[in-house]
This record gives sequence, structure tokens and C-alpha cells, in this order.
Amino acid sequence: MKRIAVVPGSFDPVTLGHLDVVGRAAGLFDELHVLVVHNPGKTALLPIAQRVSLIEQSIAEAQLPGTIVVTSWSVGLLVDYCTDVGASVLVKGIRSQVDVAYETPMAIVNRDLAGVETIFMLPNPAHAHVSSSLVRQVASLGGDVSPYVPSAVYRYLQK
Ligand code: PNS
Repeated sequence: MKRIAVVPGSFDPVTLGHLDVVGRAAGLFDELHVLVVHNPGKTALLPIAQRVSLIEQSIAEAQLPGTIVVTSWSVGLLVDYCTDVGASVLVKGIRSQVDVAYETPMAIVNRDLAGVETIFMLPNPAHAHVSSSLVRQVASLGGDVSPYVPSAVYRYLQK
């Protein structure tokens, strides 16, 4: 049976920290789905389709190994997507204890809802301070975000 995992998130925009986790996770599963999900708790910068496109370009340019599907989900629960595609695992990057506190309730609820397990992965510490919200703020105030994002995102934000 194919081992399929999902890396869900807002990816608004995708950062080097996300890409690092996606690359590591891709090596562990037969198929990895990077799933862009609208988070109603956050004010969006990029349209969902643009986020998907930037993730696809970033994965291609980084030449990440493995089978990686990039798509979005806007109807219902995240675990409904997992059930639809036959994924039994969610992968989340953990930068700090703050992330553990944020992710733990979601992981337990997702397991309660559909038996989907969550695996926490530690990114390269070089990216531990990088977040999409920080990138959005620095970019909107005219700062240089090139150390934090893949080149495709940097080029897009320059426009
Ligand atoms: O990158 P983010 O914004 O931290 O990602 C959070 C996200 C989108 C993964 C989370 O909000 C989510 O899982 N949303 C889907 C709705 C859902 O299934 N909620 C119930 C279980 S947590």
C-alpha cells in the first residue's frame, strides 16, 4: 500500500523553512501532498492559486526528490481531504515550543476525527525564526525577504 502524507498550511507565502520540511518529508513517504488551506484566522496576502503556483515553482527549482503533489482544499475538514486521497499522516514543521502548543490540539482533533496521525518534523535550525507572517510584514514594509523565501517567491514579491 502506498504511504501518502499531507503537509497542510496557509503557505502565504511558502518560505525556505516550509521547503526544508517538504524536502525531508518527501524522502519518507511514497507520495507527499502539499496542501494549501485557507486559514480564516489569518489575513491573506496571496490568492490561493498563486500560493499553489509558487510552491510548485519552488519545488521544481529546488529539485526536491520524490513524488510531490501540490494542491488546495477549501471544502470541509482537512481530514476529509486525507480520507479522499488515502493519506494517513499529516506532517507539520516545528520551530519552537510555541509551534508545539499551537499544533498539539489540532493533531489530537485530527486523530479523533479520522484516525489521521500527525508527525512533527524539526526543520534546519537556520530557518527556525522564519515564518510567513514575518515575511508578509517585512515585504509589505519594503524590506528584503530574500534570505527567507525561495527565489520564485522573491521574484513574485518584487513585482
Ligand atoms: O499554516 P497554518 O495557517 O498554521 O495552517 C493551519 C491549517 C490550515 C493547517 C489549519 O488551520 C487547518 O487544518 N485547517 C483546516 C480546517 C480543519 O480541518 N479544522 C479542524 C481540525 S484542526
